[in-house]
Amino acid sequence: VTAEKAGYDHFMLKEIYEQPKAYRDTMGSRISADHKQIVLEEVQMTKEQIQDIHNIHIVACGTAYHAGLVGKTVIESLARIPVETDVASEYRYRNPIITPNTLVIVVSQSGETADTLAALREAKRCGARVLAITNVVGSSVAREADDVIVTWAGPEIAVASTKAYTSQLIAFYLLGLYLAQTLETQEAGAIADVIQALEKLPEQVEAILAEAEVVRDYAERISKHEHLFFIGRGLDFNVAQEGSLKLKEISYIHSEAYAAGELKHGTLALIEEGTPVIALATQEMLFEKTVSNIKEVAARGASVMGLAIEGDDELKKSVDELFTIPKTLPLLTPALSVVPLQLLSYYASLARGNDVDKPRNLAKSVTVE
Ligand code: G6P
Repeated sequence: VTAEKAGYDHFMLKEIYEQPKAYRDTMGSRISADHKQIVLEEVQMTKEQIQDIHNIHIVACGTAYHAGLVGKTVIESLARIPVETDVASEYRYRNPIITPNTLVIVVSQSGETADTLAALREAKRCGARVLAITNVVGSSVAREADDVIVTWAGPEIAVASTKAYTSQLIAFYLLGLYLAQTLETQEAGAIADVIQALEKLPEQVEAILAEAEVVRDYAERISKHEHLFFIGRGLDFNVAQEGSLKLKEISYIHSEAYAAGELKHGTLALIEEGTPVIALATQEMLFEKTVSNIKEVAARGASVMGLAIEGDDELKKSVDELFTIPKTLPLLTPALSVVPLQLLSYYASLARGNDVDKPRNLAKSVTVE
């Protein structure tokens, strides 16, 4: 078993450290040699079929659903197609408006999740085209979908998903760019800029991983708490949702992810002296707004850890602790900002003496509805 873990104490930690490779492998040959275009041969839709897409539904469960939340913003910003996201166990029962002009994207690490598979079948029954993003070639989801984008994360053993989630993000960036390039919703130069930033992500993740000890210290402190908050706006909120899920899954600390601007409409009541709040502030356009939300919680006694882009040092004044990630495009920050949150859950779980790789009550793949 030790050999399989390649010297790491747990599969989860090994998988966190495998992310730079997973990013590189998932991008792989899908970026043209001149770094200007996306090549997605596995998407067999013609240009006309892509032009005929009226709307997109992204359907998935758990962490894959959280990747879908980021996917929505990525596709809408780049390709300007309206996107809805649903958890698979809800999708079929709300009589969704699926037409032959709907593209349904299902996201599943295992490709075997019963709810996701059922959603895929319902979408096909309604005449939609289905594109799958999955980590398992030959899985049920991969076999039944019309188009399949494989995430080359390699086998993921830990129940808490890490490298599969980030590889799903990479798949969404590639797909969003591919749709934009086909529909000409972005200038060629803008597409090349995103590609260039994408290609820098693996080494930027390496730089974050080199700072793991800072996160470890903070994780040991929060491991003594029973509840905390994650806040953020826009994509930061979506990463907060994933960070919160990860922490709950393996540390059993209760946490809630909140859209930072919504706190004052209720949850602020739960902030008291010493409540840990992890605040993501990586979105340039929303930075000032998030800073004022941080001040709101700090004024009520919260102990805030800020997560921001390198150089945004002014945040230091408003937080107790600051963790920074390397600079990238606002759209790409989730692929970096989630990494310290994965480490945070890992070390908090470890500090509490939990079975990191096999949390209680959870299964890696849920094949019952
Ligand atoms: C289970 C796992 C989660 C995972 C979800 C969806 O609940 O514990 O970590 O995100 O299933 O799995 P999938 O294989 O469809 O991505």
